Amino acid sequence: MSDALYNSRFMKAVRREATDTTPLWIMRQAGRYLPEYMAVRSKVTFMELCKTPELACEVTISARQVLGVDAAILFADLLPILEPMGLNLEYQKGEGPVIHNPIHTGRDVDRIRALDAMDSVDYVFQAIRMIRRALPNDIPLLGFAGAPFTLASYCIEGGGSKNYVRTKSLMYNDESAWNVLMSRLVDTVSLYLQQQIASGCQCVQVFDSWAGCLSPSDYRRYVLPHTKRLIQQVEPFAPVINFLNGNPSLHPLQREAGGQVMGLDWRCQLEDAWKTFGYDVAIQGNMDPVSIYADLPVLKQRVADVLKSAGGRPGHIFNLGHGVMPDMNPDHVKAVVEYVHELGAKK
Ligand code: CP3
Repeated sequence: MSDALYNSRFMKAVRREATDTTPLWIMRQAGRYLPEYMAVRSKVTFMELCKTPELACEVTISARQVLGVDAAILFADLLPILEPMGLNLEYQKGEGPVIHNPIHTGRDVDRIRALDAMDSVDYVFQAIRMIRRALPNDIPLLGFAGAPFTLASYCIEGGGSKNYVRTKSLMYNDESAWNVLMSRLVDTVSLYLQQQIASGCQCVQVFDSWAGCLSPSDYRRYVLPHTKRLIQQVEPFAPVINFLNGNPSLHPLQREAGGQVMGLDWRCQLEDAWKTFGYDVAIQGNMDPVSIYADLPVLKQRVADVLKSAGGRPGHIFNLGHGVMPDMNPDHVKAVVEYVHELGAKK
């Protein structure tokens, strides 16, 4: 890694070193709330956008630049890696992702294969190389992938879910098939993240967006060993942000699963979570995304509250507790970036 990247605000915070001000990026920073994104998106489908490196590069770079955030995140999605594993994926208008041949039984797991090469998703690595060349030399690029539980839930439910009945039923009723599925996902995703890093990402985030539906004992038994193995296989190559959404009672287990940075949702006080994790990890978060709808003075106060909760301790990366929503005002998102940099400045 170049000196400029190594000494960037974001990478320093990952290592819990002091920075001039609090660094931030925003989950789904390149998304439909941005006119720059919509200008590109209006000409192609979402899947075409993901699979065309020039366009993925353009939306990654423009979002980073118009917001002035301290890191870029690769424009891609959690689910296309499942296609070459044997799942038939489609993004339907207004419906979100749909998998047409989901796993219903333990035996269906047999048709899901672990990838031992990454040629089928080469478009992702081409995009990373282009983005790295186009970014300012002191702005890190984040790669990402889904955590095994979140990916398994899509494989089994065939889309989003309210209660994860199918996923949990397979997990409870056929633990050996469940472990085979999770292992294939871990093998594939660890190779995928390693290749993202080799192509030019300085750090990667693992999204466990839906693990919050699990009790601590179920997370410990059915998920922790797999997520832990994934993170262990990636961390020798770059730092990992372990983001877990939806259930603060999982914090001690999230910490056990590993990662140099713990990603928080907004359902907890950052100061309490950091105390639980221990001060030997960095922390990312955690303003409620709905704060973006607030009037600017209220929004500024809410940014200040999160910074206060972090207590000026080195190792805080500001973010929302989950992604920006499509109808949010881009000027308010830009205002968050200004407020964090202004209020986070070390005197
Ligand atoms: O953060 C970024 O700017 C990088 C790009 C990114 C996208 N998806 C682009 C996207 C990232 C990091 C993701 C991750 C992702 N994808 C997650 C984990 C993050 C989270 O929210 O917890 C999940 C669960 C997915 C799966 C997915 N992709 C869903 C459920 C949907 C539909 C959601 C919706 O709001 O319609 C997508 C589509 C998607 N991924 C869009 C974008 C910008 C919108 C697609 C469009 O342009 O029509």
